[in-house]
Amino acid sequence: MGGAVKKRDVRGKLYLVTGGAIGMGKEVAKLFAADGARVVLWDINADKLEKAAAEVRDLGAEVMTDVVDVTDREQVYAAAQRVKQDFGKVDILHNNAGVVKGGYFMDVEDEWHLKTMDVNFNAYMWTMKAFMPEMIKANDGHIINVASAAGLTYVPMLSTYCASKAAVVNFTDTLRLEMKKQGKSGVRFTTVCPSFVTTGMFEGVKAPLLVPWLSTEKMSRKIYEAYHRQRNIVMEPPLVKFVPLFRGALPRPVYDVVSEVMGLTRAMAHWKGH
Ligand SMILES: NC(=O)c1ccc[n+]([C@@H]2O[C@H](COP(=O)([O-])OP(=O)(O)OC[C@H]3O[C@@H](n4cnc5c(N)ncnc54)[C@H](O)[C@@H]3O)[C@@H](O)[C@H]2O)c1
Repeated sequence: MGGAVKKRDVRGKLYLVTGGAIGMGKEVAKLFAADGARVVLWDINADKLEKAAAEVRDLGAEVMTDVVDVTDREQVYAAAQRVKQDFGKVDILHNNAGVVKGGYFMDVEDEWHLKTMDVNFNAYMWTMKAFMPEMIKANDGHIINVASAAGLTYVPMLSTYCASKAAVVNFTDTLRLEMKKQGKSGVRFTTVCPSFVTTGMFEGVKAPLLVPWLSTEKMSRKIYEAYHRQRNIVMEPPLVKFVPLFRGALPRPVYDVVSEVMGLTRAMAHWKGH
């Protein structure tokens, strides 16, 4: 992890990740496991979930899995109850499950627009409702909410994805401040805003100028480091940090041109996904 990062002790801590069967969810789970955390993996994909669990278990960690569709509020609450009964308080909640369907807004089916909002944003509310009470009571916990650089800007052929991720950004900062105002600043929050990562979710995309692809391993390590450094927000690669600044400072037509020159407006044209 680079000598400069002072690690928090995660031994025996209970870490739960949604969408933990593949991609960044699985990779971050492996980092927590390697340092001695107990790991709960939730995913809708039962086959891949068991394969992921085997990989995490190989690191010597205690691993629990549950097949959960995070868009189903009652399923989330029931599964959360099982976790609490069997293993106790969740110390680190990592909201990571996400979906994307590229295409112009009018060409994408209604079901996909709804699903995008449900998985990428609404589900975060249900898991937080489920696991925050114990964190608040103990004034101790950490919630890692994965948004995206797409939550900081706007990208053609990615409308509801951008909307869902912008919702995560604002929601998470709001909750962070609410906790602080209520004397519960021991409940910490990290919002994660990566540009394109090589998990396959954005297969076919052409990365914009100066915003290179991030490897799954590198971005997962950045997320893990952000937990240890107690960062409020992670924006990667570095140029993403300037996006809110440019977007806020430049008139829209100028920002649109910057977007066009960088290739952001064409990035999704050849999206294939998984
Ligand atoms: N890959 C990228 O370029 C990128 C960039 C920025 C942000 N993100 C975000 O990072 C997160 C992880 O992305 P990834 O690339 O590792 O994704 P991925 O597609 O590799 O993995 C997503 C996981 O979520 C699970 N999932 C989907 N719907 C679910 C549901 N209803 N209930 C439970 N699990 C469900 C999938 O089965 C899968 O295992 C997502 O929130 C994504 O939007 C990804």
